[in-house]
Amino acid sequence: MMTLDISFSKAPSKNADAAVVCFYKGKEPSAPVASLNYEVKGFVDHVLGKNKSFNGGFGQVEIMMLPEEAPYSYVIFLGCGDKDKVDNIKSEQLGGKLVAALDGRNIESIEFFVDNDLDGAAVKAVQIASGVALRAYKFERYKSDDKNNKEDEPEKKNLEKAHFVLFDTTVAEELFKDKASVLEGVFLARDLVNDPPNALYPDAYAKRIKDQLKPLGVDVEILDEKKMKKLGMGALLAVGQGSDNPPRIVIMRWRGDKTSSAAPLAFVGKGVTFDTGGISLKPGLGMEEMKMDMGGSAAVVGLIKALAGRKAKANVIGVVGLVENMPSSKAYRPADIITSYSGKTIEVLNTDAEGRLVLADALSYVQDVYKPNLVIDLATLTGAMVIALGHEYCGTFSSDDDLWAQLEHAGKDTGEALWRMPLDKVWKEEMEGTITDVQNMAKGGAATGAGACTAAGFLWQFIEEGTVWAHMDIAGTAWIKKDKDVVPKYGTGFGVRVLERFVSQNYERT
Ligand code: BES
Ligand code: MN
Ligand code: ZN
Repeated sequence: MMTLDISFSKAPSKNADAAVVCFYKGKEPSAPVASLNYEVKGFVDHVLGKNKSFNGGFGQVEIMMLPEEAPYSYVIFLGCGDKDKVDNIKSEQLGGKLVAALDGRNIESIEFFVDNDLDGAAVKAVQIASGVALRAYKFERYKSDDKNNKEDEPEKKNLEKAHFVLFDTTVAEELFKDKASVLEGVFLARDLVNDPPNALYPDAYAKRIKDQLKPLGVDVEILDEKKMKKLGMGALLAVGQGSDNPPRIVIMRWRGDKTSSAAPLAFVGKGVTFDTGGISLKPGLGMEEMKMDMGGSAAVVGLIKALAGRKAKANVIGVVGLVENMPSSKAYRPADIITSYSGKTIEVLNTDAEGRLVLADALSYVQDVYKPNLVIDLATLTGAMVIALGHEYCGTFSSDDDLWAQLEHAGKDTGEALWRMPLDKVWKEEMEGTITDVQNMAKGGAATGAGACTAAGFLWQFIEEGTVWAHMDIAGTAWIKKDKDVVPKYGTGFGVRVLERFVSQNYERT
């Protein structure tokens, strides 16, 4: 849930801890500086003249106390760099940088004086607001209040209110309504990733999805173990059989365009609520991070929440495979041969290559039952992806150039960057079995290299001829350990923003 209260008005409320104004390179004041200066009795000019560390460069933030006569306790200068380079992405980053600078300052409310002279000032105001909200996200569910405070320190206060002053409030408010739904989707995805595996095991996760999405008019169907057995989902079930927490598949249907008879868009997510590696056990160091191995499913759930929240005129299916990968006497083993929903037999060579097994059944199922227009899957699939592209770009494989172009475009517009990876038959063939149809590790073993590509090659084995498909390996982007401008560390919610844009730009009736 969004905890930050965001609002817009034409006139300043003068009811905030701090006023924020923008300067450009060389201390060039934005238009509202003059009016704020008047409100604070010339004090802006005074501090600007004395200040030696601020010159308006991009992302600089200077927080200064105001005297008692002023209507705000603080004035904050925000450096915006070159005026003609402040685009939508940069605006969002500025909102994030501002909030980062407020950390620990106990400022609870800000009044942001938007530069009405900027091209598309209302859009940019909404982008700044979005950056503020994205960066102000906190996961504090498991902190008891008194533990937040140390002796000898003032009580910690978070930013709670951000008010934006600009001319075109009508446009800003209209745009922000939709933006708020996207933010809710991102925050839900982050919450799910940050939640620990003892709270978010498959059944609890399925219930959370239902609780979150049903009230928005999303049809939520949960497949339990019994149903999955009946359907023959041997691959997903094998992954889950070592755990006392039984697996689930959740199908989310959003029909926002009832008049359309076109096939729906399908999004599929890997939801391994904890990945120990199973019998092919992972090393202990850092294993706790594998609570994020459901990041793909979280992005799908967040995406559906965003679309349904703003009543998107599109028909979308989300399918998530929820399962815990545990070692036990019931666990599946390396050398086991299993039969997937598609009928293809799979030799398990490594129980830690479990995500592809979960996706195999979820992908086959969604193609079989819904005959979608296109399928996009998201998964924290391989460590190799992290090595290849780190935490900045999401490696994206696509069988279709047009689909890739649409995704790349949405990535550039939202700042959730995608990078195209090669989908080559060589790697699909690498995953053919020696004694089965396919195997879950490359035939050439580690010597094959290209671990992210062979994993995509495995998934490709389960994509039907003619299905337009993309696979996003979010292993490096779903979870970060260092803050970014609009993404605080840990669960990022990656995928929600880019895919929400992808849908609105290409597949939504206006
Ligand atoms: N969940 C992991 C991939 C992963 C690694 C995600 C690091 C995020 C950060 C996945 O299930 C896995 O274990 N993959 C193996 C595959 C290998 C056994 C073929 C890997 O990448 O090592
Ligand atoms: Mn694994
Ligand atoms: Zn995994």
